[in-house]
This record gives sequence, structure tokens and C-alpha cells, in this order.
Amino acid sequence: MTARDASVYRCQECGFASPKPGTCPDCKRATGELVPLVEERPAPSRGARRAPTPQGRPQVLREITLERGDRVETGIGELDRVLGGGVVRGSLVLIGGDPGIGKSTVLLQAARALAKVAPPVLYVSAEESAAQVKMRADRLGIAGDGLLLWAETDLSAVQAALDDVKPRALVVDSIQTVFLPELESAPGSVTQVRECGGRLMTLAKGLGIATFLVGHVTKEGALAGPRVLEHLVDTVLYFEGESHHAYRILRAVKNRFGSTNEIGVFEMGERGLAEVKNPSGFFLAERPTGAAGSVIVSSLEGTRPLLLELQALVARASFGTPRRTVLGVDYNRVCLLLAVLEKLAGMPLASQDVFVNVAGGGRVTEPAADLGIVIATASSYMDRPVPGDMLVLGEVGLTGEVRAVSGIEMRLKEAAALGFRGAVVPRNNVVGGAKFPLEVRGVATVGDALEALLGGGATG
Ligand code: TYD
Ligand code: MG
Repeated sequence: MTARDASVYRCQECGFASPKPGTCPDCKRATGELVPLVEERPAPSRGARRAPTPQGRPQVLREITLERGDRVETGIGELDRVLGGGVVRGSLVLIGGDPGIGKSTVLLQAARALAKVAPPVLYVSAEESAAQVKMRADRLGIAGDGLLLWAETDLSAVQAALDDVKPRALVVDSIQTVFLPELESAPGSVTQVRECGGRLMTLAKGLGIATFLVGHVTKEGALAGPRVLEHLVDTVLYFEGESHHAYRILRAVKNRFGSTNEIGVFEMGERGLAEVKNPSGFFLAERPTGAAGSVIVSSLEGTRPLLLELQALVARASFGTPRRTVLGVDYNRVCLLLAVLEKLAGMPLASQDVFVNVAGGGRVTEPAADLGIVIATASSYMDRPVPGDMLVLGEVGLTGEVRAVSGIEMRLKEAAALGFRGAVVPRNNVVGGAKFPLEVRGVATVGDALEALLGGGATG
């Protein structure tokens, strides 16, 4: 037996592979659990995984021509944007997300839209019966010309049917529930997911089919199955949101055909997902006026600025250790900013509970929201509201300096469009006589910002 056709032993949790049986050392290190390694026979037809190049030989770069019309716009603007301007023929797009977040819904709606511009579209449901999908389609008002539905889990059967059906787009819902019968392991196992992904890649590239895969996520929020799946596909999108809020965000985390960090915003309603063309307005809809502790910040997602309301509540701590409860922003970041406020603005926050929240279930990961967190906290502590038509922007350093942020013009333009009249921004962003669509005040330190927005810091 040569090394090539020897079995490997693989961890079904993390994909760790070993030539010998036993338990997974990686999982033991990470979680302390003993996960047995499962024997895997070498998969057949491994050599045929890569898509054949039409010429079958290397080509001079200059001689390679790009074909026009390789992109198909689905007509769902928010989806097209995240994909980089439509879906590319022959590309493989993986959509991950929590159960029930709306992956099947968004793909059924995308399939309908694609069926209008590039029929036929084949929707392979490996999780739900045809009747279940039909019920969803009825709910979404999808009549389904050009859209073929197939409840099938055997990927080789799907492959065999492709010649007949000749779909221009294919949806596989989900990659964890389809299987290749020639492999011994169960659907959803590392081997199956990897081989099915590879097979679909070959088919997508070889036949020029735009292919969408649904992927499940683990408790930790990572895509379940082998990491190699993420490397294999062209585009990885995450569909996220909170189940008790209606809005959903589609986020590109990898895209060979467009920029990442681009987002599309949808609202889940009675009849499926509706595009939210003006997400800032959506997030600010219930903003209170004249309330202390509320500050509007701008978070730049890809090419799109998103205005969000940050809320802070500071209350006297009733027990020994004061509480810091944080939703939608980074916990450590908040602790750091509270320390800056305590030390440099003299606010005795060590005796106060502090709660910070992004209203509407939003999320900010950018340091540009730092100054907003600081000001919201100070505003609540001092019980003085920040003017409601004011945007607050800036990264805060440990010495209390306010640092420049990227994309300032875009952010201010969005704010002006939504009726904001002024903004407090880092001083380094306003040097050089730049023109802005609203009244801008540059600040260099947290102290300056407190002065500008709340009429000075606390004195105890
Ligand atoms: P689904 O697309 O099945 O989620 P996933 O494939 O990610 O598991 O969506 C399921 C949820 O969406 C379910 O809780 C019902 C809700 N939903 C609506 O609110 N409106 C609708 O029109 C549809 C189709 C679903
Ligand atoms: Mg589903």
C-alpha cells in the first residue's frame, strides 16, 4: 500500500488529520474533550477536482480574455451589492448563518429573481421536503416559472441531472445535508462536506453555473465543517441578525469578485425579506429626543456608512464590584474607554454600574465609535443630553487623544442626508480646509469633545 492510498484518521469536529487512530489533540487542547478520530478511506477521483481550463495548457496572461456578461444581477439590490455587483457565472457562494435566520428564505427569493433573468434555476433542498419549500414559496408569493425545485440529498443524482436540466444557477440547501454515496462517512462529516464542496466547485466552474450553498454555523458562530470549504469557495457570506429583531444583515467576509465587509440590509416580514434601502433611517427610527446617554455614531461597513444609536446608562453600583454590561460593542474596548473617562475626565465610574447598548440590536466593531461610547457614558453620568442632530466620530487613545477616522466624507454625507446638522469629529480629519456638508467641529482630546457636546467634563 502506498502512502497515497493509506487511510487517514480525521477529527469530525475540527478536521485534524493523523495517519494513526486515536483522539484529537487539537480538541483536547481547546475544549478538554476527547474526540475520537474517524478512519477515512481515500476518496476516489481526487485528481479531477480542479476545473479544466478550456485550453488545457498555460496561457500568456495578455492573451486571456475576459468574457462580458459573466455577472448576473439578481435584481435584489442588497444581495447584488454584497456579491460585488451580481453573481458571477461559475462561481461558488457559501451563505452561513444561525438556524432560522432566513438563509433558505433569502436563497429562495434570490432563486426567483435569478429565474427571471437567467432561467432555469435549480433549487436542491436537502433539508426540507418539496412540500415544505412550496409552502414557503407560496408565502413569498413565488409562482416559480423557470424555477425548478428538487428535494434530494444525493449529490451524485443532482450531478447526473445537470446535463438534462442545464440550470444557469443552482442552490444547494445545505452543504451539510447532501452526500456523495461513494464515501463512507455520514452527511455533514468533514470528509463529506469537503468532497461535496469540491464536487460542486468542479461542476460550477466546468458548466458555468452560479452556485449557492447554505452552510450551518457552530455554536461559536463559525461555519460548521472543514475550514477548507471556506478556502475552496469564491465568496463567503454571513447572514446575521437577532431573531427577535426584524432586520437581517448579509455580510461578505470573503469575496474573490468584490470587496469584503460590504453589507446588505433586509427586514424579515410576513412575506419574506424586504430590502432596507435606507438602513440608517431604519436603525434610528425609534431614537428618543433629548434623552441623556444617547449618541449617534457612524459605522463604516464596506463602502456604506451606517448610522447607529449608542446608548449608555450609568447608575450607582449597589454591590461591591460595579457591573459593566455591553451589547453590540466590544466589552474590552468599553472597559478601556471607561478607564480613560475616569482618569482623564475625573468621572468616578469605579462606583457606578455602566451599561452600553447599540439600539435596535445593531453592532459596531469600529474604533470610530470610541468617542461615541465615551460621550454617551459621560452624558448619562452627567444627566445631560447630547444635541439630537449631532453626529459623534473618533477613535480614542489611552492618553485621551482623539484620532482620525477613515471615510469621513462618506460618513458625513450620509448624516447630512438624514438631516443631521452638525458633527464632532477628530481634529486631524478637518485639517486642510476640507469642505463638509454639515457643520463640523474638530476635537483633539476627549476633554475637547466633552466641552463641545456637554459643556465640560465632570468634576466629581
Ligand atoms: P428560514 O429561511 O427557514 O431560515 P434558515 O434557512 O436560515 O434556517 O427562515 C426561517 C424563519 O423566518 C422562520 O422563523 C420564519 C421566518 N419567516 C418570516 O418571518 N417570514 C417569511 O416570509 C418567511 C418565509 C419566514
Ligand atoms: Mg433553511
